[in-house]
Amino acid sequence: MKVAVIMGGASPEHEVSLASGAGIAEAAAGLGHTVIELVIERDGSWRDGQHEAIELLQDADVAVPALHGEGGEDGVIQGFLQQLKVPYVGSGVAASAVGLDKHLTKTILHAHGLPVTPGITLGGADLRDPEAAHQQLKAAGIEFPVFVKPNNGGSSYGVTRVTDAAALTDAIASAASVDGARVLIEQEMRGREIDLAVMQFPDGRVDAGPALEIHSDPNQPFFNTTAKYSKGAGEQFVVPAPLDAELAATLRRTAIEVFETLGCEGLARVDFFVPAGGGPVVNEINTFPGFTPASQFPRMWAAAGMTYADVVQNLLETAHA
Ligand code: DAL
Ligand code: MG
Repeated sequence: MKVAVIMGGASPEHEVSLASGAGIAEAAAGLGHTVIELVIERDGSWRDGQHEAIELLQDADVAVPALHGEGGEDGVIQGFLQQLKVPYVGSGVAASAVGLDKHLTKTILHAHGLPVTPGITLGGADLRDPEAAHQQLKAAGIEFPVFVKPNNGGSSYGVTRVTDAAALTDAIASAASVDGARVLIEQEMRGREIDLAVMQFPDGRVDAGPALEIHSDPNQPFFNTTAKYSKGAGEQFVVPAPLDAELAATLRRTAIEVFETLGCEGLARVDFFVPAGGGPVVNEINTFPGFTPASQFPRMWAAAGMTYADVVQNLLETAHA
């Protein structure tokens, strides 16, 4: 197969995407495929120029949009590939767009009776009025500490853990510098942080690999960008997570339900909090999760006996137009 791996992108997750794309390209080449690497620069332009990139894509059998964040994981590239009639790996336009929009994700999951983190969404003038935000938090019964997040962010860029009202101003400004349209403020969920890798197989079956637990660096306020990408970051993952059979089954069932409710295809990582004494709560979904050989998604499937190359080959076989 001729496999076009698209990587980089204009989002803050450019570097992570280059590493995800390099891993996939190397594995695809090792599997005997012809690999075309296509880089989107930080300014959103194609490194090879748009005409050349389109020609290379149209010549490919499959495209892998190994892109994280806005402009790549949000349906934009997926729509572009559909327009070019190039089969691609992963979710389509709608599921990608919803998956990168935390507010829409939560709204849809909540409407389906799935548990999501309590929080409020700020937009418009409220982004410049931290006191109004504080009043909304009180009205919603949300207490500090809270997490302030850009609605469409990834890799924790622009996310702050906030312990008092005075710190809301800077936290909202930081989140709004990533997503100027919407900012989420969510209740801190004390307890365990557990992620699941959901994958589709060529026969259409959707399954989740063994769960992974995050034991984040205690010197960081949470599993933030530094904790995610510093040296030895992978040592924070415990996979398979030690879970009793009932919790493991609930997480697996819920992760697949999230995937199917949002209409995902190919792959997704569904991230949960498990508060002490409570059931799992969905934190968010990543429709193209980090995909370096040390990343969570392939590590979870490795615990199920699939090598990184097995996972790449499986995904190539699920590509759709
Ligand atoms: N957004 C990053 C890449 C992840 O979910 O792994
Ligand atoms: Mg994410």
